Amino acid sequence: EAAEQAELTAGDRLAFVDQYPSAARITRLCFGVSFSALLVGAVLGIVQALHRTNVFRGVIESSDYYSVLTGHGVLLALFFTIFFLSGAFTWGTTRSLGRDLPSPRFSMAWFGLQLGGAVAVATAIFGGFVGQVPFEADVLYTFYAPLQAHPLFYAGLAAWLVGTWLAGFDWIRSYLRWRGDNPGERVPLQTFMVLTTMLMWYISTVGVAVEVLVFLLPLSLGLIDSVDPLLTRTLFWFFGHPVVYFWLMPAYFAWYTILPKLAGGRLFSDPLARVVFVLFLILSTPVGFHHQYADPGIAEGFKFVAMTNTMFLLLPSFLTAFTVVASMEYGARRRGGSGYFGWMKALPWANPAFAGMALAGLMFAAGGFSGIVNAGMNINSLVHNTLWVPGHFHLTVGTASALTMMAVSYWLYPQITGKRLQLYGFAQVQPYIWFIGMALMSNAMHRAGLAGVPRRTAEPQYDQFSFEAALGSIPEMRLQIAVGGTLLTLGAVLFAAVMLATWFADRGRGRLRVDSHLPEPISGPEDSPRVLDNFKLWAAVAVVLVAIAYGFPIFSMVADGPFDPAAPPV
Ligand code: HEM
Ligand code: CU
Repeated sequence: EAAEQAELTAGDRLAFVDQYPSAARITRLCFGVSFSALLVGAVLGIVQALHRTNVFRGVIESSDYYSVLTGHGVLLALFFTIFFLSGAFTWGTTRSLGRDLPSPRFSMAWFGLQLGGAVAVATAIFGGFVGQVPFEADVLYTFYAPLQAHPLFYAGLAAWLVGTWLAGFDWIRSYLRWRGDNPGERVPLQTFMVLTTMLMWYISTVGVAVEVLVFLLPLSLGLIDSVDPLLTRTLFWFFGHPVVYFWLMPAYFAWYTILPKLAGGRLFSDPLARVVFVLFLILSTPVGFHHQYADPGIAEGFKFVAMTNTMFLLLPSFLTAFTVVASMEYGARRRGGSGYFGWMKALPWANPAFAGMALAGLMFAAGGFSGIVNAGMNINSLVHNTLWVPGHFHLTVGTASALTMMAVSYWLYPQITGKRLQLYGFAQVQPYIWFIGMALMSNAMHRAGLAGVPRRTAEPQYDQFSFEAALGSIPEMRLQIAVGGTLLTLGAVLFAAVMLATWFADRGRGRLRVDSHLPEPISGPEDSPRVLDNFKLWAAVAVVLVAIAYGFPIFSMVADGPFDPAAPPV
């Protein structure tokens, strides 16, 4: 018992920045880009929320709405999240393997490529606001053909993607060197999570890479004069579902390895965590057709296979809910909590890192339920392309991932800068503001979507699209979206203020008081079979499942001419 207590409250150690300066630098750079994208994206978010609810339409013309929406989607869903992932995974592999980055120049190269690509993409998008420049990219974050962007958009996307691939090589290389020195040992949990996630990424990004390099970039350069919208959409969603796990895996990584510690305890089960990540690796790609239930040219049977796989994907999320809640309860009981539900009061709700992650997890449960509705082939037609869909994914990527990332930053940012967190009061209220804002905005979006209000339109005053026509006399839904969106943007601004103030703060004297020690799980890796760590096996299973789900449909789309827009007969 005394040893247990001693390990759980091990106290602060040498700050990460002093122990691993190269990795700390890359992590800081990635976080800097990530947080900047968040701030800009959030400002675009409030513009949209107020414009389309007719509350305030003075900032943009409706004709600029797609530029705003593209900027919002791309900056938040691709750059905020994935730059954060790049930083967090650099930290996690370095920490868990106990070795700094093998080659700081190589790491700077992948960071530079990601940043250069992101800047090119942003330039193309924001060019859409400025009349005279030749750039434009009002194609939304799904860039469906036949919408077309300036080549800069696609070239930037490709460069950024290659940057993410090289980042993965960096982490794999660290792992292989560690493996050379530690033959026969179990892969440390954080590194295990990074590697399974990256394997999923390598498999799934093949789809979007082919879409961009073979079809959309040549089309925008005028080298070819048509593409097949069905084929390019299929290649997009081949990547477009796994990317949602690329957003979620950094959150899972934090819920499994950081949250239990912040709750005052330790992870309940390392084996379950490994099983969950393996399931995500093998199941997240062969489900993409669940985004294409309404597309013609894909046989129903393949849509059905995608639906079945999607329902299986619920399993790892349920396992996560169980393991993470069990870990929090363990921590709460150690802190003196008791009762069936009363233990929750013993959790550290005033610690912003804990509160943000716990609230994010709670909202993820709600997002999971609306996701089950999206995934059902028949009931999907009720909500398809309505405001329900953004209502759903603002709970998942917009809160489960985004709020967790902000919460992790409250704990991790001091460790990678060596500075005390500033404006702590702002940080403490921020997760609650986000939670309330999202509860309002997302609830109203779901409700309006059920009544048929479409997504992706700037013109709510059209009668058949209006909130009033759809919902009768319920204008509160409009107001909820406007008020919720405003609170959310306030939340993002508070977060950015805390990070900026910390960035500019002096390092100060004395040791930084951050307890960075992550205790061992209750049930460790020795309780699970070694086959779980066989990355080659799981990657092979993943590829086979992808071939089964996609082989025939893609073959039939290509067989009638890969550049022929006509859909194949089904
Ligand atoms: C779309 C508001 C944060 C990702 C939207 C829409 C609104 C909105 C009103 C729907 C527009 C339409 O369909 O006409 C906000 C506000 C936020 C916020 C006020 C708070 C700052 C986020 C975050 C993420 C995100 C944190 C992801 C990390 C997206 C995406 C879309 C979207 C991907 C869809 C874009 C498209 O249809 O192409 N947002 N959002 N949002 N939001 Fe947010
Ligand atoms: Cu999906």
